[in-house]
Amino acid sequence: MHQLRSVIFVSLLSAAVVQIVERHDLIIDTDPGADDVVALLLALASPDELNVLAITTVAGNVRLDKTSRNARLAREWAGREEVPVYAGASKPLVRTPIYAENMHGKEGLPGVAVHEPKVGMAKGNAVDYLIETLSKAAPHSITLAMLGPQTNMALALMQAPEITQGIKEIVVMGGAHFNGGNMSPVAEFNIYADPHAAQIVLASDVKLTYIPLDVTHKILTSEQRLKQIAGLNNQAGMLVCGILNEYVKADMAHYGLPGGPVHDASVIAYLLKPELFTGKQINVVIDSREGITFGQTLADWYDTLKQDKNVFWVKNGDAQGFFNLLTARLSRLK
Ligand code: BDR
Ligand code: CA
Repeated sequence: MHQLRSVIFVSLLSAAVVQIVERHDLIIDTDPGADDVVALLLALASPDELNVLAITTVAGNVRLDKTSRNARLAREWAGREEVPVYAGASKPLVRTPIYAENMHGKEGLPGVAVHEPKVGMAKGNAVDYLIETLSKAAPHSITLAMLGPQTNMALALMQAPEITQGIKEIVVMGGAHFNGGNMSPVAEFNIYADPHAAQIVLASDVKLTYIPLDVTHKILTSEQRLKQIAGLNNQAGMLVCGILNEYVKADMAHYGLPGGPVHDASVIAYLLKPELFTGKQINVVIDSREGITFGQTLADWYDTLKQDKNVFWVKNGDAQGFFNLLTARLSRLK
């Protein structure tokens, strides 16, 4: 009898554990980019939690043709060629385009050899795809991970504001407050590259989470952490180590850090294991005025202005927990 009770208890417990894993229907909007590719590999290696409906690309770290090729490379390396890749905006809404070749190299992917992937782009434009998918989706059912400038989503919202009905949450890699910026003393790249787009997304009233430099600069590579990934001895591990070893050099030198951030991968880690992160709901305003504060995210952490709390701002993350998760998921790939 006692044994039977234990069996029933264990079965109930595992049923409860299974229910806790939330599966997201996910669209990843991205500008690969070294850390974007790591994020894509992490997402595509996690099909139990993430149903990746599509990858949409935008110009950002490099031009659109290269971000689109690199997204398809990540998909190929993950063995997930069935996930469509749609190309979107080739330039920001208003400002002059900027790129980050200094960080990501001419190809947008440092430390590894690139090639033309076997499978091509999906037919149609990313903005049309977003409009069609989100307008037909069940209410508040689709999550968006936005890993680059927010131009595609801003264009979609401008053309069809009603698409917010299909959005469950948008998780953005962008912004900086406590840490300071990486494009100016106050501005982070993804917001600085298209602040007008970020303002439109911010004004749309969807559930928004920001993963800013405040947290990504606390989740740093180390020799040990990269060794752990290299030790997987698979293609994915070798690629991620090749990319990161090269990518982190500039940040380590510039900031005097012991390792480098892998910004965009934190967005995916947040969706997979939100318990690794902490933050709070605050008011955020984006500055798009010409001048020294262009692209700044004004994050009212202490609620000084008593304004609408429009963003969940993530401030801290468990760095070792992140790298354990990344290593475990990469071990599933070839
Ligand atoms: C962000 O800027 C880009 O260079 C990275 O891919 C990341 O999305 C970090 O500021
Ligand atoms: Ca990016």
